[in-house]
Amino acid sequence: MESILGELNHVAIVVPDLDTAARRYRDVFGARVSAPLPLPDHGVTTVFVELSNTKIELLHPLGDASPVAAFLARNPAGGIHHLCYEVDDLGGARDRLVQAGARVLGDGEPKIGAHGKPVLFLHPKDFDGTLIELEQR
Ligand code: CO
Repeated sequence: MESILGELNHVAIVVPDLDTAARRYRDVFGARVSAPLPLPDHGVTTVFVELSNTKIELLHPLGDASPVAAFLARNPAGGIHHLCYEVDDLGGARDRLVQAGARVLGDGEPKIGAHGKPVLFLHPKDFDGTLIELEQR
């Protein structure tokens, strides 16, 4: 069977303090780190750490209804929040996964993600405790 998984687009880590986390990646690892980018529609502020083969997204809650606020409350020291895989055909991937019994979060329709491309999230209980984001390539 042909794999629907493309490249690893990013690993997202929820952090208790964005400036501290960004400084650590920049000063300790010497990594290329973006300025903080507030994404009010997504309820997060992000810092991107650019690696040669993928990205790390440092996430911190923004606003009252942040989707990562509960995660940070449960994991006050921060933690890995999700993995994002690229797919060639998001709708086709969704249909195949639903047919295989996986649950898509929300109403099942793709939303425009943090990089301006359609994304879907898959229920972590269906993937060994890992929240998975699929992003249209
Ligand atoms: Co993401």
